[in-house]
Amino acid sequence: MAVPERVLTNEELAQMVDTNDEWIRSRTGIRERRIAEDDQTTASLATEAALNALAVANLNPMEIELIIVATSTPEHLFPATACIVQDSLGAVKAGAFDLLAACTGFIYALNMATQAIRTGSVSNALVIGSETLSRLINWQDRDTCILFGDGAGAFVLQAGEEKAGLLSAVMRSDGSGADLLIVPAGGSALSPSIDTIQEGLHYMDMNGREVFRFATRVMTQATENAVKGAKLEIKDIDLVIPHQANRRIIEIALRNLDIPLERCVINLDRYGNTSTASIPIATCEAIEDGRLHPNDKVVFVGFGAGLTWGAAVVVWSGAFPTRIKMVPGVIRVYARVRSVILRFLRRIDALIWGRYQ
Ligand code: COA
Repeated sequence: MAVPERVLTNEELAQMVDTNDEWIRSRTGIRERRIAEDDQTTASLATEAALNALAVANLNPMEIELIIVATSTPEHLFPATACIVQDSLGAVKAGAFDLLAACTGFIYALNMATQAIRTGSVSNALVIGSETLSRLINWQDRDTCILFGDGAGAFVLQAGEEKAGLLSAVMRSDGSGADLLIVPAGGSALSPSIDTIQEGLHYMDMNGREVFRFATRVMTQATENAVKGAKLEIKDIDLVIPHQANRRIIEIALRNLDIPLERCVINLDRYGNTSTASIPIATCEAIEDGRLHPNDKVVFVGFGAGLTWGAAVVVWSGAFPTRIKMVPGVIRVYARVRSVILRFLRRIDALIWGRYQ
C-alpha cells in the first residue's frame, strides 16, 4: 500500500465547512483521511504501492504480463494511468489498462485478472486500486468533503498449482442510479467550459441518503451470493474486508449477515473512503496486524458509483517465492532511465525518418 503523509483531521475540516468532529465520527466513523501532496498523483501512488507489492511477491517488474489500474481519478482521460505505471516500473512485457467501476473497481479488476490467468492468457498480473479523490472534491461541500481520502493498494496475482486465490466473484451494476454519485462534466456528455467550471460541475456530486440505502442492501446480497458461489456458508468465512465507505453501512451489512464485528476489517477511521484503494489498503493492514493468514477464507465486498457492486470470495495464499530478488529503489532508477532513453530514441527516430513521411 501507499498513502500520502499529509493527514486531514475532522477538526481541520470543521474550520473549512459547517461540520464538526462529533457529527462526522458518529455518522461515518471517520476521524481523519490522507491528502496527496501537489507532486503526488494517482499514477505515483499506484507505482509506489505496486513496488511494495512486487517486493513482497519478490517479482521483477520485467516479468509482469498484465497491469490493471482500477481508479475513478485517473491521471488523464487518456492515456490510461496503467500505462504510466507500466513505464514507471519498466514492465516491458505488460499489457496495461484502466478499469472504471468506481469504488467496486478493485473487485472487478481482481476478477478480470484472475480470469486472464485461469485461461492461460497471462501467467501473472498486477492489480492496483489508486485514487486522488481530493482533486475531485468541492471543499465547500460538506456532504462529500468529509468522506473521501487519497491512497493506493496493490495485489500481485500469479498462476500456481495449489487451489487458492479467487473462488467466486459477483459483479453487478444498475445504471439507472448513475446520477446518485457523479462527476457531471469533463467527459463526452458535458465537455469542459467556463460555465461547467463556474457551476462546479467538475466536482463530485452525491445523494448521500440514497447511496446509503443502496449500499446496505447490496453489501448483504453480494456477500451472500459470492459465498454461495464458492459453495461455502457464511460461518466458513474467516474475515470480511469491505469497502471502507461508512462504518454504519458496514455494521448494518454485518448484522444482516449475522457476522460478528470481530471478523471484519475496518480502518476507515484513519483513511476515510479511498474508493478502489480501500480494500487493498485494509488487506495490507490486516496482514500487518496478524489478522489475515495463509488459507484464510476472505470476502471482499464493495459498492460504488455506476451504480456498481460486487463481492469476491478468496482463499488467501500469501506471497509466492520467485527466482529474482528485487529492490524497489533500483527498479525505480532503472525504469526512469529506460523511459528517458525511449523518449530520446523516439525523437531521434522522428528527426531521421519524419521528413520522409
Ligand atoms: N456535518 C454536519 N451536519 C451535516 C453534514 C456534515 N458534514 N452533512 C449533512 N449534515 C446534516 C444535514 O443537513 C441534516 O440536517 P437536517 O436534519 O437539519 O436536515 C442532517 O445532518 C442529517 O443529514 P443526512 O444526509 O440524513 O445524514 P446521514 O445520516 O444520511 O449521513 C452521509 C450523511 C453522507 C454520511 C451518509 O448518507 C452516507 O454515508 N451515505 C453514503 C455515502 C457513500 O458512502 N458514498 C460513497 C459511495 S462509494
